[in-house]
This record gives sequence, structure tokens and C-alpha cells, in this order.
Amino acid sequence: MNEQRFARRLRNMQGNVIREILKLTQQPDIISFAGGLPAPDSFPAEELAEIAREVLQNDRSILQYGTTEGYGPLREFVADWVKGVGVSAKAEDVMITSGSQQGIDLIAKAMLDPGEKVVVESPTYLAAIQILRTYETSFAVVHNDHAGVLVDELESVIAKEKPKLAYLVPTFQNPTGITLSVARRKIIGEMLGRHEVILIEDDPYGRLNFTGELLPAIKSFDESHQIAYFGSFSKIISPGLRVGFAIAPAPLLRKMVIGKQGTDIHTCNLSQVMVYEFCRRGLLEPHIAHVARGYSRKLKVMQECLALLPEGIKWTVPEGGLFIWGELPPHIDAGKLLEIAVREKVAFIPGESFFVLGGGKNTLRLNFSNATEENIRLGFSRLAKALAEYK
Ligand SMILES: Cc1ncc(COP(=O)(O)O)c(C=O)c1O
Repeated sequence: MNEQRFARRLRNMQGNVIREILKLTQQPDIISFAGGLPAPDSFPAEELAEIAREVLQNDRSILQYGTTEGYGPLREFVADWVKGVGVSAKAEDVMITSGSQQGIDLIAKAMLDPGEKVVVESPTYLAAIQILRTYETSFAVVHNDHAGVLVDELESVIAKEKPKLAYLVPTFQNPTGITLSVARRKIIGEMLGRHEVILIEDDPYGRLNFTGELLPAIKSFDESHQIAYFGSFSKIISPGLRVGFAIAPAPLLRKMVIGKQGTDIHTCNLSQVMVYEFCRRGLLEPHIAHVARGYSRKLKVMQECLALLPEGIKWTVPEGGLFIWGELPPHIDAGKLLEIAVREKVAFIPGESFFVLGGGKNTLRLNFSNATEENIRLGFSRLAKALAEYK
């Protein structure tokens, strides 16, 4: 069909590059550091199967329509759980979403008219860029250093561009693995009150920390009530269940609820109850600790492998999450390297697509959670071969 027949918001829009690369990596003999997938052996399948059976046997209302805001006991659990990162919320401030990804879509749906500005990190989460583009947003960017987003730059971009929204992933960021320092979180929380902007604090990785130290959310410093805080059970229980949450100022949350009524009416009841029961039975914290221990070992293995690559390659040292960010020597185009790497049966994501205004051709994102330790080592020997072949 001719592109002109499609709505302007999706015209000439390509699919998510990561999803395209993931298709390519589906061959069984390829070792993939590409996706953001949890380790398949981390899923608590038996516990969830038991919970699902009990719930379906005892409560038929789970099979009925539910409320758009979400399953009440789960909203209460979340309101209590986020105290761990200093967020004070009541159950009615929490909305359950079909993954935190849906939160990004719903806030954009609620707030953005075509052409309006959003500030994002450079680089930032690719799917957020894609969602925002479908609302015909225009972008301004702010840069990071090792301690996260540069706060002075953030404030001057906000003052100059007057964006409706700013989008940050402050903890174990996707794609860089970088974490925003507590001092900067406080500065951002206080700075917001001087501007008319809503900050999306997207935090799907914060609980997946390898040091055991939970950092306060930026929202814990949000005295002017300008932050929408999003969380998710995807990386700590299962992404396939599609359960996340949004905590936002009441008028904004109400608009997001109206938006969700049109999108999917409500998040799957069975998924919500499964997540709730998993948490209520005290299984969540030991499970997170178990998963974090495994990922932390894999991270260490990947860092050892990185240290064996030729000189001139730099990488971040995250303390949690799923990703390491690498910078290759300037003459190496990570997209071209990927072509060679796939022939050698290893894959990663070239970093370029995480930069909304372009750049980053010599960068790449590496996922350390999904492959086994043995495959991480094997994958890196293949990557070293691909680098040697690169001309
Ligand atoms: C920064 C960020 N936000 C949101 C999501 C989406 O997570 P969910 O499965 O909760 O929709 C991801 C998933 O990779 C992510 O990296």
C-alpha cells in the first residue's frame, strides 16, 4: 500500500530496530546480547502455575472484566512497596498498566499534541522514542556523564524549549546502564518546581540492583508534584505477564485512565492477581535477590570478556539492570560490525538508534542477562573475531 494512505503519525515509520534485529537472532546457533530479555531460567514458573491454578479455582471474578485503574490489592501493594524508594503514594494514586511501556504511551496520549516538545536523554530507551514519535512529538536532548543526566543542561534545555514532558530512566538506564547520582536526583526534584513540565521517571530496573542498595527515586524529592513515576514487574517476575504501574498526580492519572479505557480497558486480571499473590506470599524479595545474584555473576563474566578485547574499546560498569554500553574506536561503525558479527553468530544492538538526534555510530548496547555464562564467553570470542575481520 502507498505510504500516503497511512496516518501521518505512522507514515515512513520503520519498525523498532531492536525487534528487527531480534528476528535475525532467532536462529538457534546465534548468541544474542541484543534483546533486553531476562534469563529464561529466572522465571518463577512453578510458583506462578500454582498461584494461577488456585486463583482460577477459587475466584471466577478473575475471568470477568475488571476496573481500568487495576486490581485493588495490587494497587495497595504497589503504594506500600514504592516506600522502599522513598515514594509516598496511596492506592488511589497508583494505576496498573500493561507494562511500564504502556505508561509511556498513556502519558503521551494524555499530554502531547503534534509538534510539542519532549526532552529525552541522549541516548535513551528506543521504544520511548518510537512511542513519542507516533504522537508527532519533536525532541530536545540532554546528555549524560558517568553520574547520569547533566542537571544544569537539563534545566537550561527545559527553560529554553519549554517541553510538556521530560523522560528519564535514572537507574541502570537503558541503553547505557548508567545510574543518576542521589545528589542530582535531589537537584532535579527541586528544579522542576521552577518550570511547567511533567517528568516521566521510568524505573523498570531499580530493584534489580547488585549492591543491595536501593536509591531514592527522583519522585521522592518531588515537592511540586510534577513527576509521573513508572515501575514494572517485567524484569523482576516476568515480562510476558505485562504488569507495570504508574503513579502520577491525580488529574494526570485520571486522563491516563481515560486513555487506557480506549486502549485495552484494563490490564489482564489473571496477570495482575498472579503478580499480587506472588508478592503477598513473600516470594518477591527472595526472587529478586536470586535473580540479581545470577545477573551480577554474568555481568562480571562479560566485563572480564570486554577486558580481553583489543584496546580502544570503552564500556560502562553498571551496578544493576541488564545492559552494558560500549564505545568502539571512532572509525568502527557498529552497524557494519553487526553484519560481520551475525555471520560469526553473535549479535548486539548498534547504539545509533538510541540517539534521537543522530550520532553514536561507534556505540553498542550489550545485554548480559539472557545468555548463559558459557555463552557469554563464547559470544565474546566470536565478537573478537568480528572485530579482527572489520576493515
Ligand atoms: C526503560 C524501559 N522502560 C520501559 C520498558 C518496558 O517494560 P515493560 O515490560 O514493563 O513494558 C523497558 C523494557 O525494556 C525499558 O527498558
